[in-house]
Parts: sequence; structure tokens; C-alpha cells
Amino acid sequence: MSTRDTTGRTALVTGASSGIGREIADIAAADGYDLVVTARREERLRELAEAVEADHGVSATVLPQDLAEPDAADRLYEAVRDAGIDVDVLVNNAGVPLYGPFAETDRETERDMLRVNVTTPTELTRLFLPAMVDRGRGGVLNTASLTAFYPVPRKAVYGATKSYLLSFSRAIAHEVEDDGVTVTALCPGVVETEYAERGNVEESGTMSGVTNDPRSVAEAGWEGFRDGERIVLPSGIATYAAQLTRVLPRKTVTGLGEQTIEEGASWI
Ligand SMILES: NC(=O)c1ccc[n+]([C@@H]2O[C@H](COP(=O)([O-])OP(=O)(O)OC[C@H]3O[C@@H](n4cnc5c(N)ncnc54)[C@H](OP(=O)(O)O)[C@@H]3O)[C@@H](O)[C@H]2O)c1
Repeated sequence: MSTRDTTGRTALVTGASSGIGREIADIAAADGYDLVVTARREERLRELAEAVEADHGVSATVLPQDLAEPDAADRLYEAVRDAGIDVDVLVNNAGVPLYGPFAETDRETERDMLRVNVTTPTELTRLFLPAMVDRGRGGVLNTASLTAFYPVPRKAVYGATKSYLLSFSRAIAHEVEDDGVTVTALCPGVVETEYAERGNVEESGTMSGVTNDPRSVAEAGWEGFRDGERIVLPSGIATYAAQLTRVLPRKTVTGLGEQTIEEGASWI
């Protein structure tokens, strides 16, 4: 896949134990990157590491970590440094949803979601980006969401975490554009992964509309990152929906956001 020399370069992928993150890790390895993979389920990470080492001849380091822990980013950073690894590409992919009216959702679950979706990716970027800037190469790929473009009633905080990630990605992409470093926000619509089993999503209609497969989303994300794109909308429908949010009245957009939850993405 690669036309550039990626020998000895390393991609750190969070949320690599399933779904989009597992696919991004495999694609990065096929592209010649050594890997550091993290998530909570160590066994899954070990299986992935064995598979990419056998299939792609790269090395893969498994560093299990609960990214909802307050000091998760520091722990991971220190574990990477202790292993003597320089991270060239940081993939902030781990994320969890939470479905339900804000007045009723569980506060602890919400706090954990904020840590996994916002605090830890921000702190990991804080820790790994300066060395990328010093080296004059590398970058960050953040898995945001199509929901980053509009408010999502009944997934209010989840939607807002993704808007944060998109805004954060665009701002830093601008800051480092002359430093040889790129930052990309991957913004998929609904993807068939274990996401559907998390955060009460099964109780919503989210998964009932148009869905994407994680491999094609990961391929679009990685290719967009390698091309230095700032935003990747991995399907025509996602692109169309993101554009719609720019021209429709705000209240209409919020109503459509609600419909994506109740009826899946059938409105697009
Ligand atoms: N699926 C969709 O419809 C969709 C749409 C737009 C955006 N996204 C975003 O895509 C990203 C990947 O999700 P996915 O769809 O691939 O779902 P997934 O299969 O559920 O993957 C989520 C990943 O995040 C990890 N994770 C969750 N909580 C964690 C924690 N506390 N500490 C460490 N790792 C944690 C999981 O690993 P462990 O459970 O092993 O810890 C898993 O590897 C997320 O950021 C999600 O918000 C998904």
C-alpha cells in the first residue's frame, strides 16, 4: 500500500480490540508501521498483535489500559517510553456511546465517556504531538463521528464529545500545518461494530438505517490521514449529511439529529 518508507515507524492505536480501531491497526501494519495497541481487553489485543506480526512482518506491542482512568494518558505515555518506542502516528480511536435523555442518564457512565472520548485523547495528543513537531513528521488520526456536525438529542453528551474532537482536530491541524505534521478527524456515520452493544445503543434506533462496515471506514480514514486530509467523511451519504447541516436551519438540524437516533440514519 505504501509508497513512502515507513520502516521503523510506529502507530499507536487506541480502541484496537474491536471495530474500526482493529481495522485501522491492521491497515497501518499492512502499510509497514510497527504498532502499539491499547484497549482494556488484553486477549483481543494479543490476538491482533500475533496476526499483524504474522501477516505483515511488523512488530506489535500490547499495552492494555482503561482509558477512562484519570491518569490513563500518563500511564500509557510512560509505558510507551519505557518500551523505548517513538510514536509517529497517534490514532485516538477508542470511544463509547451513551444513549438516553440527559436528565436520566447515569452520571458515572457519562463521566467515564467524557474521559474516554475527550480527556484522554486530548492528553495523549498533548503528550505525543510535541515530539512529532520536533521530528517534523507524523500526525494524529482522531475517530470523531458524523454526529460531530450536529447536536444529537438523547445522545447529547456523546454527540458533544465528537463535536469537541472535530473542533480540536481542525484547530491543531491548522497549528501544525507548517511543521510536517498532520491531524485528521474521521467522521463516519453508523458503522456495524460492538458500538451497538454499548451505552444502551441497542435501545435506540441508531443501527436500523444505513450502516457501513468497519473495514471500509478504517481504509477511508487511514488513506485520508496519509493524504493529509483534515476531515474524512467515509461515505457519500456522510458527506451529503455533513453538507446539509451547513445550510439547514439550526432547529431543523437538531430535529434531524434526533431522528438519526430514533430511526437510524434513514433520513439521509
Ligand atoms: N459504530 C459506529 O456507528 C460509530 C459511528 C461514528 C463514530 N464511531 C466511533 O468509532 C470509534 C470506534 O468505535 P467502534 O464503532 O469501532 O466500536 P467498538 O467496536 O465498540 O470499539 C470501541 C473500542 O474502544 C475501546 N474502549 C472502549 N472503552 C474503553 C476504555 N474505557 N478504555 C480503553 N478502551 C476502551 C474498546 O476496547 P475495550 O472494550 O477492549 O476496552 C474498543 O476497542 C469510537 O470512537 C466511536 O465513537 C462509531
